[in-house]
Amino acid sequence: MKRTHSSTELSSNDVGQRVVLNGWVNTRRDHGGLIFIDLRDRAGLIQIVFSPEVNENAFHLAEQVRSEYVITVSGVVAARTPATVNPNLETGNIEVYIDQMDVLSSAKTPPFYIEDGIEVDENLRLKHRYLDLRRPEMLKNMMLRHRIVKAVRDYLDDSGFMEIETPLLTKSTPEGARDYLVPSRVHPGEFYALPQSPQIFKQILMVAGMEKYFQIARCFRDEDLRADRQPEFTQLDMEMSFIEEKDIFQLVEKMMIYLFKIGMDRDIDPEFPCITYDEAMRKYGSDKPDLRFGLEIEDLTDLVKDVEFKVFSSAISSGGVVRAINAKNGASFTRREIDELGKMAVDNGAKGMAWVVVAENELRSPIAKFFSKEQMNAILHVLKAEDGDLLLFCADQEAVVARVLGAIRLELARTMDLIDGQMLKFAWVIDFPLFEYDDEEQRFVAMHHMFTAPRISDIELLETDPAAVKARAYDLILNGTEIGGGSIRIHQRHLQEKIFSLIALTPEEAKEKFGYLLDAFEYGTPPHGGIAFGIDRLLMIMAGRSSIRDVIAFPKTQSASCPMTQAPSEVSSKQLRELSLKIRE
Ligand code: AMO
Ligand code: AMP
Repeated sequence: MKRTHSSTELSSNDVGQRVVLNGWVNTRRDHGGLIFIDLRDRAGLIQIVFSPEVNENAFHLAEQVRSEYVITVSGVVAARTPATVNPNLETGNIEVYIDQMDVLSSAKTPPFYIEDGIEVDENLRLKHRYLDLRRPEMLKNMMLRHRIVKAVRDYLDDSGFMEIETPLLTKSTPEGARDYLVPSRVHPGEFYALPQSPQIFKQILMVAGMEKYFQIARCFRDEDLRADRQPEFTQLDMEMSFIEEKDIFQLVEKMMIYLFKIGMDRDIDPEFPCITYDEAMRKYGSDKPDLRFGLEIEDLTDLVKDVEFKVFSSAISSGGVVRAINAKNGASFTRREIDELGKMAVDNGAKGMAWVVVAENELRSPIAKFFSKEQMNAILHVLKAEDGDLLLFCADQEAVVARVLGAIRLELARTMDLIDGQMLKFAWVIDFPLFEYDDEEQRFVAMHHMFTAPRISDIELLETDPAAVKARAYDLILNGTEIGGGSIRIHQRHLQEKIFSLIALTPEEAKEKFGYLLDAFEYGTPPHGGIAFGIDRLLMIMAGRSSIRDVIAFPKTQSASCPMTQAPSEVSSKQLRELSLKIRE
C-alpha cells in the first residue's frame, strides 16, 4: 500500500476518494461497534474509522493497536455529520472509513504523553528525544528552524554572499571560552581544537578575496552552561570586505525584518536604536538591556556625596557611585518581599540595599533619618517619586552597582509583571571598551575578541590609556538577549601585533598561535568586518521558548552530557594507546 496523501492534504474536496495513509496511532477510542483512531503524521492529525460492517479484519486489527503503533491504512474519505465536526482539527470535517490496514511496527507504552505542554523531567525527554520530537510543539520548532535557516541562505544568496565551510579540526580559535580538544593519532601528544567560532578563517577568506562570506557554522565552547548557552551551538557567521559599521547594520536590519516576517509573521519596527555601552550600563545595569520596560536606573552620586549617611558618602569618597531605581507602585511590597530583593542584591555582590517606601505624606525607610528634608526631596525629585512608589538604592563601585541594580531591575519586571510577552525590542549596543582588566590574571583581555579594531580616533590612546580605548564592536540585542555580535577588524599586522602585546601575548606566543594570520595580512588585506548570530537564541525567541534546548534537535544537558547516547563516555584502552594518551588516576 503506497501512501497517497499526508493527513492535512485531505479536505472536504476529497470526499469519496480512496486514499492510503501512513502514520502513528495518536489516540484510539473504542465505541463498541466503532473504533476511532487519530492518525498522526508529520503534517498533523486525521480521524480514521473502523467498523465491522465496512471490514471485519481491519476492525479486529484496530482493536489490538495502541498508541504510537505505526500503521498503514486504506479507505474512503467521508464528510463528518455536522454534530461530529471537530473545529479544533485542520481535518476536522472529514474522516476516513478504513477497509484495509497493516501494522508496520508496534510500540511500547511511551514514558510520557506525546502531546504539548507536558510537565516531565527534561532528562527523560532528552533520553527519549525521538518521542519528545514527536510532540507537535517540538516538531513545530524543528520546522521553524528549517524555515529560518533556509530564509537566511536565500537572503544572503540574493545579497551576493557565498557560503563557505571552514574546518572543525583546527587550531584554537579563541572567543574567551575553553577549547574542546581532539587528540591526534598521527601526531602523538598533539591536539586539534574545535573552533569556538570560524573567526580567523573568515578573516583569511577576506584576504583570499571572497568579499562576502557566510556560513551556518557549528561552534564549540567549553564554558558554564545556562538556558541560553550550549557547548556546541550554531552561528550564522558573516564577513564582508570594503565595508563600515553602517553597511553591516543596514544589511542585518533588513535581514531581521525578513526573518521575523518568515518565522513569526511579524512586522518588526524598522528603526533599530543604537545605545552606547556606557549608557546601557548606567541606565540598565547591563550590556544587553531588556528594553521592553522602563525602570531605568538613576544616578544620585553628585546629589548625595556630602550626606550624613556614611554608607553613601564613603562609597563615593572611595571612588564609587550611588544609584537607585524607582519601582513604581512598589509600596505594596511586603517587608519580606523587600528583604528578598535585598538578599538578591547581596547575592550579586552588594553590601546592602537601602530602600524608601513613599506612602501618603510619609516615608517609610531605615535610612530616611540620615537625610535632611531638602536632601530627601531632591532625591525624590530625581527619581520622580510619587505616593505608592518603592525606591531601591545601591552604593558601591560602579561595576558592582550596575550588576546589582541590573539584576534587581529584571527581577522587578518579572515580579511586577511589566513585560509584554508580545513585544520585540531590538537595539544595537555600540562603543564597547576594547579591553577589560582581568584582576585574576592581572592583565588586559579583549572585551569582544582580539581581532576587533580600535576606534580610529582612539589609536593613540593604545600607548597612553588602553582602558579608555573604544572598540569598533557592536552587539545586536533583542528583549535582553544578545543575539549577535561582531566588529570591524584589524587588518594591519603592526596594529594586530600591538593588541597582542597589550593583552600580554609575547611575540613568540603570538607567532606560534596566530602567525598564519599575521603572515596573511602581509599579502594584501582588504579592510573587513562582520558579525555572527546565535541561531539557537534567535529561534528560541521566535518560538517563544525560554531555553535554547527546545530549538535544538539533540541538545546537551546543563552538565554537557547527552542522556540518549550517554556521551561523553569512556573509551577503550586500545583507543587511548593509539592516541598515546593515559588517564590520570
Ligand atoms: P560571539 O562570541 O559574540 O562572537 O558569538 C556570536 C553569537 O553567538 C551566540 N553564542 C551562543 N549561543 C549559544 N550557546 C553559546 N555557548 C553561545 N556563545 C555565543 C550569541 C552570540 O551573540 N567570532 C565572533 C563574531 C564576530 O566577531 O563576527 C563571535 O563568535 O548569540
Ligand atoms: P547599616 O547602617 O549597615 O545597617 O545600613 C543601613 C541600610 O543601608 C540598610 O537598609 C542596608 O541594607 C543599607 N545598605 C548597606 N550597605 C549598602 C550599600 N552599599 N548600598 C546601599 N544600601 C546599603
